[in-house]
Amino acid sequence: MIAFANQKGGVAKTTTTLNLAVAFHERGHRVLAVDLDPQGNLTMSQGMNPDELEQSMFDVLVRSLPIEEIIHRAEIDVAVSSIDLAGAELALSSMIGRERALQKALLPVRTDYDFILIDTPPSLGLLTINALTASDEVIVPVQCEYLSLRGLVQLQNTLEMIRENLNPSVDIRGILPTMYDNRTLHGREAIEMLRENYGDLVFRTRIRKTIRYAEAPVQGSSVLKYDPTGPAAKAYRDLAKEVLNGATPG
Ligand SMILES: Nc1ncnc2c1ncn2[C@@H]1O[C@H](COP(=O)(O)OP(=O)(O)OP(=O)(O)O)[C@@H](O)[C@H]1O
Ligand SMILES: [Mg+2]
Repeated sequence: MIAFANQKGGVAKTTTTLNLAVAFHERGHRVLAVDLDPQGNLTMSQGMNPDELEQSMFDVLVRSLPIEEIIHRAEIDVAVSSIDLAGAELALSSMIGRERALQKALLPVRTDYDFILIDTPPSLGLLTINALTASDEVIVPVQCEYLSLRGLVQLQNTLEMIRENLNPSVDIRGILPTMYDNRTLHGREAIEMLRENYGDLVFRTRIRKTIRYAEAPVQGSSVLKYDPTGPAAKAYRDLAKEVLNGATPG
């Protein structure tokens, strides 16, 4: 189980969750992607309209609806979300086991999938804490343009708190440079700075900046389906390879 987290907005969490999920699926793995963001971007990226959903992750987390009932089959299986989910933070906050609601909800489907990938909102609130508590690993996308190492330190502090109190084994699997432009000095410097501070935690795969990533979701598809032979698709296939080398499924 892998969470995609960075409290900074617009760093390609959703893009990475979806395209890595599809890349795993292409390699024959059974994959579930969980949309844990009230914005519902992952849900939309697979061609579904969050406003038309009758039930979503909100009902799973707050009303104990079995997650199977809100899993939609698209390129991959998606546990869908809509704006309702914004109310989950408050509804969960007074519940016993509020940090473990997602972990509990996923238990019955864990063995149906080789990988469960969880997209989180741009905050370190209760939804993200649920994702980090349920996960074995975290992938942290960072935008090379506006690199914020302070933001990464804050995320690491949250993870440390989660390890101490909720999930001793969760760890950063890797930091993924996204929206990389190798033609600019700024882009290259950002990678260098990441490597200096985080060494081998930084994935070798870099996701370059291209409009393809914005075009694909408009068609309700991953970039692997939208432009299967292009460099944007290849980048996420490369990342899948890098993650699978030594990955423990689950
Ligand atoms: N490598 C890339 N190059 C150019 N644009 C990209 C790239 N990756 C993602 N984008 C675009 O940037 C925007 C933000 O990406 P995305 O929604 O994946 O970020 P996010 O971290 O999930 O955002 P949020 O914090 O709001 O959930 C989207 O319009 C997406 O299509
Ligand atoms: Mg997102």
